[in-house]
Amino acid sequence: MTRRAAMFARMHGLLQVTASLCLTTSTLAWAEQPAAQVDVAASDWPYYRGNTAGTAYSTLDEINRDNAKSLRLAWSFDTAEASGSAWNTEASDMECNPLAIGGKVYVVSPKGRLLKLDGATGRLIWSFDPADGQPIASLHRLRGIARWTNGKEERLFLTFERGLFAIDASTGRTILGFGEHGRVDLAQGLDRDPRSLSVSVVSPGVVFQDLIILGSTGNLPGHIRAFDVHTGTMRWIFHTIPYPGEEGYETWPKEAYRTLMGANNWAGMTLDAVRGVIYIPLASGGMAQRDFYGADRLGDNLFANSLVALDASTGKKIWAYQFVRHDLWDRDLPAPPTLIAIRRQGTDIEALAQITKSGEVLLLDRQTGIPLFPVHEEVALPSDVPGEVAAPTQLRTLQPRPFARQWLTEDTLTQRTPEAHTAVLNTFRMLRSRGPFDPPSLQGTVILPGLDGGGEWGGAAFDPTTRLLYINANEMPWILRLKPRTAMDDKIGPGQAVYLAFCAGCHGQQRLGQPPVVPSLVEVGKRFTESQINHIIETGNGRMPAFGTLSEPARSAVAHFIATGIDSLPDATIDQAAVQSAGAGAPYIFEGYQKFLDPEGYPAISPPWGTLSALNVDTGQYLWRVPLGEYPELAAEGYKDTGSENYGGPIVTAGGVLFIAATVYDRKFRAFDKNTGHLLWEYVLPEAGHATPATYLARGRQFVVIAAGGGKDPKRASGSKILAFSLTR
Ligand code: HEC
Repeated sequence: MTRRAAMFARMHGLLQVTASLCLTTSTLAWAEQPAAQVDVAASDWPYYRGNTAGTAYSTLDEINRDNAKSLRLAWSFDTAEASGSAWNTEASDMECNPLAIGGKVYVVSPKGRLLKLDGATGRLIWSFDPADGQPIASLHRLRGIARWTNGKEERLFLTFERGLFAIDASTGRTILGFGEHGRVDLAQGLDRDPRSLSVSVVSPGVVFQDLIILGSTGNLPGHIRAFDVHTGTMRWIFHTIPYPGEEGYETWPKEAYRTLMGANNWAGMTLDAVRGVIYIPLASGGMAQRDFYGADRLGDNLFANSLVALDASTGKKIWAYQFVRHDLWDRDLPAPPTLIAIRRQGTDIEALAQITKSGEVLLLDRQTGIPLFPVHEEVALPSDVPGEVAAPTQLRTLQPRPFARQWLTEDTLTQRTPEAHTAVLNTFRMLRSRGPFDPPSLQGTVILPGLDGGGEWGGAAFDPTTRLLYINANEMPWILRLKPRTAMDDKIGPGQAVYLAFCAGCHGQQRLGQPPVVPSLVEVGKRFTESQINHIIETGNGRMPAFGTLSEPARSAVAHFIATGIDSLPDATIDQAAVQSAGAGAPYIFEGYQKFLDPEGYPAISPPWGTLSALNVDTGQYLWRVPLGEYPELAAEGYKDTGSENYGGPIVTAGGVLFIAATVYDRKFRAFDKNTGHLLWEYVLPEAGHATPATYLARGRQFVVIAAGGGKDPKRASGSKILAFSLTR
């Protein structure tokens, strides 16, 4: 057995002992202590993930480990904006972590409307539509909002497409003095042509004093910006792709600061409100297929893949820790870090925990960014794709051990049926699988955990009383394969030429897309007019980049081509310069987002396929781990407790309960005993809850609320409901 295989065996061992695990005396001797600097009224959930420290912890205890089994649906509210299913690629979803303030709940609908509901009844109080009644062509995934108050006035900050809106919490109207009529255009002020950017902000910003600090999603340079909460004026900017003279500039090609996209913060941020320090996890320095072929960004690419600590008032860097050098695996930091304290020899060290897509959890000193447990610099595998230069060394965390398996081997392939095993074994033998940091290849490289983690955007929860960090994870292998770009055939027309140069890398040569990540364009002419398609191409949306720099004739040609399949606008001139500047000329392109599945669509790896772990941050040891989720049809055949992919985070309460939904296929909302991982309660949601729950008091009762929008199971339609649960009385 290899060293890695031994590690897997230990991890499985850990799973098997879960049910019978006894608490050691040391873990029972908790000193009840207040959550570090959590300035939160116990009854509220006034920040994304509960508080600025990112702990997703509530001191509420009406619902507790003894009575959680009597939880009942108290109310549900249908935003009535569900559309599609993952099959027809227009699936909406809801990733919103609601805020709860003074018994009122704020949620974002699938189309980006902000709703204020009565927390006790679910009655609608007001709704704000950032699109102002205009039809919305594409769907939005917004994880929540931010809130500012001076005790008298209360403002909510909603991001929608390229706008940041300030809304009066009492009326639901925009605050006209903010930006232009209540809106700041986020495509401005980035030193790039705004028409060439696609900008949106998925995770809410963080409010510090009179600033709202924002990251971004989309095809843009990922600089961090702070805006004045009163006027919308930009107060500072931190260049995540450094400019000449700035630290880290030498880790990129010279022109990167003017040309490259990425190094953005899409995952949200965490604030140390006492110190005035903001901790910002950043994504990789590539975008879309450039995530996997980095020949145009040789170097370590600081501050991509880094956790950066900035002075929240000035944007000045305090420290940075880079998790992946010259990322070729799309290993964006996926979640805001969690502020914790680690107890050593009776003293508390102020620390933070950062989870990663690769299944690691790093515990760093909050003041210095230095790891508090051993980290090792390892020689990394070289790339054999021409033009690529992988980083010679990478950092690996030795402790805590990873919370997900790191290396797909023959003995960890699925044994679900003999046929499934044989099929995946045959594929596996044609692929490379050499462990962490195995670069993408023309042959195909297995990446485990896959491109959706490991750890994901739901983030970890931390309970200051148990000193446990709770992490949900996926264990799905994916295949990374590059292919040489094919020379454009002289005979094809201009529409198809533009399509192959700019669109095929994501939507596929045959326009089939890669559902559910990238929509198929096969019948796009039935959904949109040519001018609507032209508009989508010009402005982009979400992960669809903007092509505002393409000439109008080139946009019309490709819109006509994909809407009709006919390539008959012969006079369109295609800007070769635009083709080059968008990097469309890269010699190698990513073949597409591909999970490694067996012939029936189940993971090619043996279970667990999704887990929930509890880590003691003082010792760096896991206390318990349970599989999270199931495939109902497999469970019915007796293939149970497999775990499954899950998206959305946990929350934990003083009542001893950990709440999590997240699981894709069984659509369950679950309550676990936070000390043992024993299941206390479960409820089948109308559609899966790919969101983080919230808990609050309204009219003296404790509620727990979850957005249940589904949208990831290809066999089901999307949903659009918010559901709240309380104890029966
Ligand atoms: C980087 C990958 C990528 C590239 C390159 C790309 N797209 Fe897209 N496209 C997407 C994604 C992802 C979406 C879904 C956007 C969303 O809703 O989040 C999308 C959506 C669309 C839609 C809307 C489809 C629908 O059903 O909602 C159209 C039309 C479209 N793209 C056309 C194009 C054209 C034409 C090009 C080339 C000029 C192009 N795309 C290039 C990723 C890409």
